[in-house]
Amino acid sequence: MTCGGLSSNSPLAGTDWDGSARAYDRFEKKWHYYFRVAEGLVRPLGIERDSRVLELACGTGACTLALSRRCPSGEVVCVERSAPMMDMARKNARSARRENVSFVQGDVSRLPELLACEARFDFAVCNSAFWQFPKSVQVGEAVRKSLKPGGVFAFNLPSLFSLTKERRLYRDAVDEVLGKHGIDRRRFWRRRKREDYHASVERAGFTVVKDTHYYVVVQAREMMEWRSIPIFARRWGNFAGLPAGVSAEISSTIRKRRLLWPDDRGRRSRWRMIMSIGE
Ligand SMILES: C[S@@+](CC[C@H](N)C(=O)[O-])C[C@H]1O[C@@H](n2cnc3c(N)ncnc32)[C@H](O)[C@@H]1O
Repeated sequence: MTCGGLSSNSPLAGTDWDGSARAYDRFEKKWHYYFRVAEGLVRPLGIERDSRVLELACGTGACTLALSRRCPSGEVVCVERSAPMMDMARKNARSARRENVSFVQGDVSRLPELLACEARFDFAVCNSAFWQFPKSVQVGEAVRKSLKPGGVFAFNLPSLFSLTKERRLYRDAVDEVLGKHGIDRRRFWRRRKREDYHASVERAGFTVVKDTHYYVVVQAREMMEWRSIPIFARRWGNFAGLPAGVSAEISSTIRKRRLLWPDDRGRRSRWRMIMSIGE
């Protein structure tokens, strides 16, 4: 797998978010989950009152609000592929009276034509989406060109498969089904690693200056509701590249054994933030 390639089993890569905009927005307004995730990413960046910020894949605007509050006399320009997600973000920014935010609809792999790539931003931020971009080096290069020299690019990644005891049980169950169907487990679980993300941004002309973990507390009921957002309900357990039958068998096995959320205790969801500086 190349650095610029897809994460081998990212269940969300290349998916269509349009049909999930309402549910995603409803969920976010109730729980503020992505806002909390965004705060962990944005807080350490040192955004100033007059900073100019480019946001990649703004969704319904959770991170947009976190950003725009920090630079009231600067600006936030958001690029988002899904029109329904972006429309929600626009509405949310309006009702929060954020006047320093503007939106551009399009795929981040087309950043150069969408933004004409002038070097005018101090920061570029991507909350909960970077691993979904198939051409991360190309996106990184476009981001670098749109930043002033020395500008900061920061994104985060969920650590869904750090092997706690719970995750190990989950993984064993998945492996059992894969083994039954003669599917290579190591290949299946292979993900882009820390070095791959570093290599992607470094190939795009950035130097990584920070790579740290942070945690967001998630309630059991919140997680259940998260799973009812169509895109997650449909894709979770439906890993890319597996025959539909195998995918369905994995889903039913983990459901039957109650392996995804075995009790009603809250959990800490672990995120990683990677911050880099452009040449
Ligand atoms: C999990 S949501 C994250 C949304 C948002 N950043 C937040 O803080 O809530 C992922 C978003 O990435 C967008 N997206 C995925 N791939 C994209 C691409 N190639 N270009 C632009 N947006 C993309 C999706 O449309 C979706 O709105």
